[in-house]
Amino acid sequence: MNTPRWYPDELAHAGSEHTDPDYVSGYDRKAGADPDEDLSALLELGLGADGTLVDLGAGTGTFALAAARLCRRVIAVDVSPAMLDLLREKAERLGAENVECVRAGFLTYEHRGEPADFVYSRNALHHLPDFWKGLALDRVAGLLRPGGIFRLRDLVYSFEPGEAGRYVERWLAGAAWRSEEGWTRAELEAHLREEYSTFSWLLEPMLEHAGFEIREASYSDSRTYAVYTCVRA
Ligand SMILES: C[S@@+](CC[C@H](N)C(=O)[O-])C[C@H]1O[C@@H](n2cnc3c(N)ncnc32)[C@H](O)[C@@H]1O
Repeated sequence: MNTPRWYPDELAHAGSEHTDPDYVSGYDRKAGADPDEDLSALLELGLGADGTLVDLGAGTGTFALAAARLCRRVIAVDVSPAMLDLLREKAERLGAENVECVRAGFLTYEHRGEPADFVYSRNALHHLPDFWKGLALDRVAGLLRPGGIFRLRDLVYSFEPGEAGRYVERWLAGAAWRSEEGWTRAELEAHLREEYSTFSWLLEPMLEHAGFEIREASYSDSRTYAVYTCVRA
């Protein structure tokens, strides 16, 4: 793809910690992610031995590697070389030969082969401001076959602006004490200030505008995380 000059450098917006091999080596412990809920949801929607899944912002590959046990082809896409190095190492260790690692971003990934049946993305889209989210979601729709599924999990604010103080303080109060074990108060504050999580009532019309039907939306009690299951029209 010939990226226009006015496109952002996605790596420059990816969070400097994600390009730091030391941070990346401790990432799985910090994130403590369990892929089972998302896998079960996608299995119910037809994820199976013939399927192709693209994971955008795959990080160290916790989800991509779990999905690879169940489907034919998994493409794990990330802008960070450090994340991809660890992902490749884990894939080799597991003998996951159906996982392709691609260094690219939401705005630059070029899909090859049959259109994807599933696109998954967890905690990555918030690295793009809303204008670029709009372009990214349009590109996600373009990767999928009609009827294909987009499962999006991210930090999304499902409260009104006037409620921000209350919900944000409650969220920060539940932060991890140690950075090795989760996201600390200082890290969550930096997320609020410097990254681009948006309101659910802005993101949802953006998903629909990109040609998705939102089949299911759920919001955490903290109102700071959301999960969407969307079908490409
Ligand atoms: C918080 S991590 C989440 C990783 C993984 N999805 C998970 O849930 O553990 C965010 C990931 O998004 C990647 N990322 C940031 N901006 C991106 C972009 N524009 N396109 C693709 N990946 C991006 C980062 O390099 C990082 O690996």
